[in-house]
Amino acid sequence: MLHNMNIAVGVTGGIAAYKTAELVRLLVKDGANVKVIMTKNAQQFITPVTLGTVSNNPVYTDTFQVTEEGEIAHISIGQWADILVIVPATANIIGKISSGIADDLLTSTITAAKKPVLICPAMNTNMYTNPFVDANLRKLSSFGFLIMEPDIGGLACKTEGPGRLPPVEDIVEEIRGILTKKDLRGFRILVTAGPTQEPLDPVRYITNHSSGKMGYALAVMAKRRGAEVTLVSGPTTLDIPRGINLIQVQSALQMRDAVMAHLSQVDVVIKSAAVSDYRPASYSSSKIKKEKGPLSVSLERNPDIISEIGKKKGNIVLVGFAMETDDLVDNAKKKMELKSMDLIVANDLNTPGSGFKSDTNIVTLIARSGAVEELPKMGKNEVADKILDRVYELLQKKSL
Ligand code: PMT
Repeated sequence: MLHNMNIAVGVTGGIAAYKTAELVRLLVKDGANVKVIMTKNAQQFITPVTLGTVSNNPVYTDTFQVTEEGEIAHISIGQWADILVIVPATANIIGKISSGIADDLLTSTITAAKKPVLICPAMNTNMYTNPFVDANLRKLSSFGFLIMEPDIGGLACKTEGPGRLPPVEDIVEEIRGILTKKDLRGFRILVTAGPTQEPLDPVRYITNHSSGKMGYALAVMAKRRGAEVTLVSGPTTLDIPRGINLIQVQSALQMRDAVMAHLSQVDVVIKSAAVSDYRPASYSSSKIKKEKGPLSVSLERNPDIISEIGKKKGNIVLVGFAMETDDLVDNAKKKMELKSMDLIVANDLNTPGSGFKSDTNIVTLIARSGAVEELPKMGKNEVADKILDRVYELLQKKSL
């Protein structure tokens, strides 16, 4: 996603500066070109050698420095960059930028740049909540600077509170979001993800192999494209995506209740969860003891959530998935019609690199018109983007 994007990372003098080595490494790994500017104080915490090595570029530290191309650094870096990211941003740099001070290379570059600037404050809680810092951040925000709120947690000064730098993975995702076209802004999308667990007793349940990766990819990509996202998720081990309304459920019944409760507040529902069709007919509140002979468990049908949505969907764009082992397209088409979906995403479980658990998927998109598009093997994020392209088209048609 960040392939060929130019990112200027400004590092200032806070303890979290040591985390910028990992941030730069992740940006480069994602395909970005990175140039680092360090203040004098930042060099107390991490060396230019480290950041130069991970960025594969010289590190800029001096106001009067020229680039390898012989250009004036504080002008050319801002022209070169698609985005400037200040991480960590100390109270000092926030105060300087908000007052228009340009007395070193970083502040001069920010003052000269006409590109998005993302500021990631990180400092002691008393500093962060100081009215001057608060007012300076508000001022910067009103001028169009983008502020990423710090996390609440343990700080280097051995206190706890707001001021902790968010995980670098979240900063990378924030940058991706800023650089993504917001074509889904204004739309509310509900995604279901993961497996359901149908409890038999306090220690056992029926489930399936879904990891939640496909559904989480849809939620993250929809958020990146500007949608307001609600993610109803069965149990997974995936990190909780930032900026998404996550509703965690266990069973199909809980998933149905959560989805139906939100139906009147969404424009799109994408049902990528692998919902268990059956649940144990009765739940034993104490652990079922093993006996000598075999044990039979009676199962009863779970509600078909997507069919229920199909009956009440009104103007909602409804996207379902089909997990098939035979006659992929025919079976998926039947499901789409039976359950009133607008689009169905069929994955063939027989092909390696498709379906459960893997980071890739191989899907065929089938529209209500009958149009069939077979996609090659792609990362689940890319598959999600292709599905969202179709969702966008369907939303446009509905609004005509
Ligand atoms: O989570 P991952 O490891 O990344 O794997 C992704 C995936 C394989 C789970 C995903 O790509 C996928 O195919 N999800 C749907 C799986 C499924 O339940 O397929 P199905 O053919 O059984 O169901 C058809 C549709 O009805 C699905 O949209 C499903 O969410 C929905 N359904 C099914 C049963 C039920 N009781 N209620 C439902 O709403």
